Amino acid sequence: MRDQYGREVDYLRLSVTDRCGFRCRYCVSGSGASFLPEGDLLTDGELERVVRAAASLGVTRLKLTGGEPLARPGLAALAARLGAVPGIRSLTLTTNGAALAPVARDLRAAGVREVNISLDTLDRARFRALTGVDALERVLAGLDAAVEAGFDRVKVNCVTGEDLDQGDPAALAELARARAVDVRYIESMPIGCGRTFRPVTRAALARRLAERYGPLIPAGERGNGPAEYYRIHGFAGRIGFISAVSEPFCTGCNRVRLTPDGQLKPCLQYRPTLDVRALLRGRAADGELCAALREAIWQKPRAHCFAQPAAGERLEDRPMSAIGG
Ligand code: 5AD
Repeated sequence: MRDQYGREVDYLRLSVTDRCGFRCRYCVSGSGASFLPEGDLLTDGELERVVRAAASLGVTRLKLTGGEPLARPGLAALAARLGAVPGIRSLTLTTNGAALAPVARDLRAAGVREVNISLDTLDRARFRALTGVDALERVLAGLDAAVEAGFDRVKVNCVTGEDLDQGDPAALAELARARAVDVRYIESMPIGCGRTFRPVTRAALARRLAERYGPLIPAGERGNGPAEYYRIHGFAGRIGFISAVSEPFCTGCNRVRLTPDGQLKPCLQYRPTLDVRALLRGRAADGELCAALREAIWQKPRAHCFAQPAAGERLEDRPMSAIGG
């Protein structure tokens, strides 16, 4: 369906848990993990009901995200169930990759088409400092397993921030040289503890990449999302930039988000506007659920305001780990 600004909203990002073993500095603050009580999370059946309602309104693409979605027991079964909802044509997953290797084939068999792996540095000590976990090797094993499992696409998401101490983020492009993996650079966004970091701008990164690997050639293709892609001579995969801060792309935004506790977020930067869980648990009829979703999508904010974050109390105050990116 279209929102009041004429944008076609066909993409739902489902954060299926806020649990994650990583404590990435731009995503979640502190070391004392406090997660939502189990009973606050939507059940598989509740998620399926939301997806059916969303599909009836024109949603065709689903993303499973977290927290770490693989921390939710039975994720492959859930994926198969959601992917089978009539109208859903694309099911993808974003993961930290650490627990991916053993389940990559199951996820592919369950109908997951694409996998995004969050990885911000190839330096083991920096990885540990940035995530709190000594898991670089497991993540790289997850990446290779994903390539082996035959997903339509495998992408690496690298958040860039000055002061993030990730070394030279351009070095991550190496992953796209021999593997058919797209490496995407995401400017760190001022959500939760992401506020602490200034993004490395796309211009600065592009310059470093070109110095190191040769010219970036526009790939001329776009995916579902806001990334702009480039090719590098001799590289199997592509390089992408997601520059939400320096070059906002809200006019083309096609997505809404559901938090693990069932709150609908029509814009990343603003608080949820619809308590879907209350409707589900209050025995709302399908018609009522659809009408509420339709209204929330219609009211999707025109744009974020990362540049002048002054909009006060409507601004999101959850960490990214409870939103799912
Ligand atoms: N800014 C930009 N991207 C972020 N992510 C998490 N926190 C931030 C932030 N503050 C990314 C993760 C993941 C994706 C879903 O969102 O690295 O790859």
